[in-house]
Amino acid sequence: MELWDAITQKRAVREYRDEPLSEDHIERILDAGRRSQSSKNRQRWHFITVQDKDRLNKLAGAGNFLDHVRRAAMVIVLVTPIPDEERDVIWINFDIGQCAAYMQLAALDVGVVSCLGAVYHHDIIRGLLQYPDDTRADALISFGYPLEKDAQPRPARKARRDFDDVVHYETW
Ligand SMILES: Cc1cc2nc3c(=O)[nH]c(=O)nc-3n(C[C@H](O)[C@H](O)[C@H](O)COP(=O)(O)O)c2cc1C
Repeated sequence: MELWDAITQKRAVREYRDEPLSEDHIERILDAGRRSQSSKNRQRWHFITVQDKDRLNKLAGAGNFLDHVRRAAMVIVLVTPIPDEERDVIWINFDIGQCAAYMQLAALDVGVVSCLGAVYHHDIIRGLLQYPDDTRADALISFGYPLEKDAQPRPARKARRDFDDVVHYETW
């Protein structure tokens, strides 16, 4: 898939075929995240994959809008250190946002659709995944092969703000 097509056609897809992802596709997606750029190249992230159906069902309870997690073939949970300094929070989150984008675009390139999810209930996800106390998980991504109706790429479902509304030249 052309990069520009992936950028313009990527959308949040929340239903998936009931079919496991191939090992090659899983590795490609994880490797895309690993290769993301990061602040000072610190790469402050770990990725936990979840494919077990029972665990996915429980994981869906870790947010208020995570129904897609129940249907996912795989979820990747993005785990980051809890920083000592408050100012690091922005850069850690900036970096995992890029990890997520890389993973989702790499997924689309091999025909895998995805949707981001926000974690609200940290006690639930921490209990389920048991990452170290000095780390946290705020975001996850569901992945799966698309249903027939979503198989053909099409423009994002929700409109984007107009180019001229967003872009400023030289000054605001
Ligand atoms: C930081 C972030 C958190 C999100 N959290 C959720 C979520 O909890 N549940 C969900 O269904 N979608 C979630 N989404 C997906 C957005 O709703 C989706 O990307 C947006 O509506 C654009 O959709 P589109 O690309 O299909 O037009 C999240 C997206 C981002 C970037």
